[in-house]
Amino acid sequence: MNIIDIISKTKRSEELSDEEIKWLVNSYTSGETADYQMAAWLMAVCLNGLTERETVSLTLAMRDSGDILDLSCIDGVTVDKHSTGGVGDKTSLVIGPVAAACGIKVPKMSGRGLGHTGGTIDKLESISGFRTELPFADFAKIVNTTGFAIISQSGDLCPADKKMYALRNATSAVDSIPLICASIMSKKLALNADCLLLDVKCGSGAFMKTQEDAEKLARLMERVGRAAGKKCRAIVTDMDSPLGNNIGNALEVREAVELLQGKVKGPLYDTCIDLAANMLELAGKGTIEQCTAMAEEAVSSGAALDVLRRTIAMQGGDSSICDDVSLLPQAKFSHEIRASRDVRIVAVNSEEIGMASLMLGAGRTVKDGDIDATAGIVMACGVGDNISMHAPLMTLYSSVCSDFSEAAVRAVRALTFEDI
Ligand code: URA
Repeated sequence: MNIIDIISKTKRSEELSDEEIKWLVNSYTSGETADYQMAAWLMAVCLNGLTERETVSLTLAMRDSGDILDLSCIDGVTVDKHSTGGVGDKTSLVIGPVAAACGIKVPKMSGRGLGHTGGTIDKLESISGFRTELPFADFAKIVNTTGFAIISQSGDLCPADKKMYALRNATSAVDSIPLICASIMSKKLALNADCLLLDVKCGSGAFMKTQEDAEKLARLMERVGRAAGKKCRAIVTDMDSPLGNNIGNALEVREAVELLQGKVKGPLYDTCIDLAANMLELAGKGTIEQCTAMAEEAVSSGAALDVLRRTIAMQGGDSSICDDVSLLPQAKFSHEIRASRDVRIVAVNSEEIGMASLMLGAGRTVKDGDIDATAGIVMACGVGDNISMHAPLMTLYSSVCSDFSEAAVRAVRALTFEDI
């Protein structure tokens, strides 16, 4: 086999065999196939796509490029959840504890944010002392004790995806449905939970901008998961506007805790309950109606907050933030933006809000760059709200940037108004 033939076949939309795909992934992971050759193949995939059989084969070859975890030491049904990424998406911090409080095990590995989308690991690191790198045995022990733990992706999990994702990022080859599917599913299959819930975000702040593409990715990921022997469900959720009011790392932890304290309702609460109910149903806990009621009870009774409190403590973090969110790091500077006239909010573009938050220090523009845990935006308005002249629209926070002018322009540009 050789790389030139493989690139040529995909360039001509000819289907590759399982052996050819396995060879390609292994030869790239080992360094035999060069970056420029893999980049050419990835671009051919972006332009011509892959068949479903090729996508399954690519996913499995990427999964098999490194370790596959053995979760048999965790008692009970394990359920993993993955979001394709968005702005203000703190659902993992809520639904892991909710699902665990209802009796299932949620061993979760998460990533860091890149670009305008946030990452769960960055959010958790805003909690003083919280350790996101733990040996597998400690991780498993916490899951067995509290039902839920989150660590950063570690060890030798999917080295092929690490290399391919970096290459795709640098060559405009991210937005391909089969490549996104293989990248996400290879990591999820290497984590190896019994059941898998996929939250495919759709809208201005997501990789999938249209309902049609989001549905395509969702159905493809479900079929790939099932082909690999997992109970797998993908649901499409809205990312046209940010999820919840808070965007930024410590600010999002604060909103997640407030939700578990029973203080947050609306789209964020509804999405979290829906996702948690789907996890419970996948794990065989009952009908979707029964699972919805269980998830709601886990929040209203405080049981889910208790799971989060115990998990944070076992991961070395300051669990008193669960009782007093003001103990989370606070920004040195803030800037409130108010309406200059009476308006109705027609749209809130999540990508623009994500970019404004990144300019305040909440995200990174280069891999492994520093972030400001306190930076971000708290929205005081949402789609459909009528806002009177001089009433607040949002507040920007940062500890690294005291001049808010550029970020404020970008944040206001995210809003579409109509006069009332
Ligand atoms: N998240 C991933 O892990 N991979 C992608 O390709 C896109 C989003």
